[in-house]
Amino acid sequence: MNKHIEGFSKLTKEQKIEWLTATYFEESEQASKLLKQYWNEDAQLQKLHDEFIENTLSNFYLPFAIAPNFLINEKVYSIPMTIEESSVVAAAGKAAKFWQNRGGFTAKVLSTEKIGQVHFMYSGSKEKLTAFFEQIKGRLISDCAHITANMEKRGGGILDIELKDKTGELEQYYQLHCTFNTLDAMGANFINSCLEQFSKTFTEEARSYTAFDETERQIRIVMSILSNYVPNCVVRAEVSCPIEELNEDKGISPEEFAEKFIDAVNIAKVEPYRAVTHNKGIMNGVDAVVLATGNDFRAVEAGIHAYAARDGKYSSLTDAAVEDGIFKFWIELPLALGTVGGLTSLHPLVKLALEMLGKPSAKELMQVVAVAGLAQNFAALRSLITTGIQKGHMKMHLLNILNQLQASEEEKVYFVNYFKDKTVTHSQVVDAFNKLRAKA
Ligand code: MEV
Repeated sequence: MNKHIEGFSKLTKEQKIEWLTATYFEESEQASKLLKQYWNEDAQLQKLHDEFIENTLSNFYLPFAIAPNFLINEKVYSIPMTIEESSVVAAAGKAAKFWQNRGGFTAKVLSTEKIGQVHFMYSGSKEKLTAFFEQIKGRLISDCAHITANMEKRGGGILDIELKDKTGELEQYYQLHCTFNTLDAMGANFINSCLEQFSKTFTEEARSYTAFDETERQIRIVMSILSNYVPNCVVRAEVSCPIEELNEDKGISPEEFAEKFIDAVNIAKVEPYRAVTHNKGIMNGVDAVVLATGNDFRAVEAGIHAYAARDGKYSSLTDAAVEDGIFKFWIELPLALGTVGGLTSLHPLVKLALEMLGKPSAKELMQVVAVAGLAQNFAALRSLITTGIQKGHMKMHLLNILNQLQASEEEKVYFVNYFKDKTVTHSQVVDAFNKLRAKA
């Protein structure tokens, strides 16, 4: 069957589903029913979701959970998390509990600067370009007044614009490297609008700048876009306690625990293969909160991984040390987050998530997200250096396996109990399940 279609986006939702199911499914009725089964019966709410993106057919559920009892800067938070991986919320809960009795987490925003760039090509004299830039810099900013007025009223706005010569890396390549304070907004629209206005003013002014010759007047703007790399928008979160309080019930002394823990972090600092997995565990916590609070997790992911490689080698985002008998474990993360704008006032669950966090400022949300990342890393390393990861992970995964096997509710209760003191593996669950069914 021909799978090509023109004008798909113009069809109604019903027509889109009809086309899709007739084209790709033998059981088209069933496929259509499945897609519609996920529609919300509140038509208004469904429409809201339909309009987030183009070609919406249905909703795609992810669990929305909370990890309570997070003591951060002496305030207790229940952290909202949206994630599909079975063990992540449980791990967060365990780490929260562990640190709650040891002074909790402290977190601090170190900087809040966002970056955007106008990338352009110019083949003339650098001196003339510099003089031109110095002359029109004020104009670049004042021409943005219609965009920046509100942000400035609240204390944010454009911080600076620098002309950067990148011709050493790419012939003719220069940029306007611009910094912004976008307060509680993630700021993508604000920054991009300013940048596009900068490019407009820049090219227009260049055309009438008398010191330029004819070719110099033809500055070629390539693109104007924010950067998701925000190494000057950084938050630090930390936990610490006297070594002897690292008492574990896992057959390991506090001293040995601290030593192995620091070894594990140091391995991730020097070994990229381990660092990627180490940081992936951190992102389990970070992404879950970023997603639940309606923020752009792709931007956060890209920025954080670039930061992890800022010294030229991909490395751990966390660090640990013992100083004067005190065990310290900390993280520094670049995070461009928003608590206003974007989805934050649109998606009802995002609104709820922000409300339960006490309608935080972007800075407070940065702290919560960094803590969620640090907590995940603590929980992962704690398991890895003691029991191993599979015990806890597979315990949480047990229900997924049982659901795959279409176990009844009674069978699920039975097997959760049965595997309480056994290590769960996929094949053992299948075997035990088949045996039980055979008996029945
Ligand atoms: C699994 O999602 C995350 C871990 O692999 C992280 C780690 O190894 O540190 C457990």
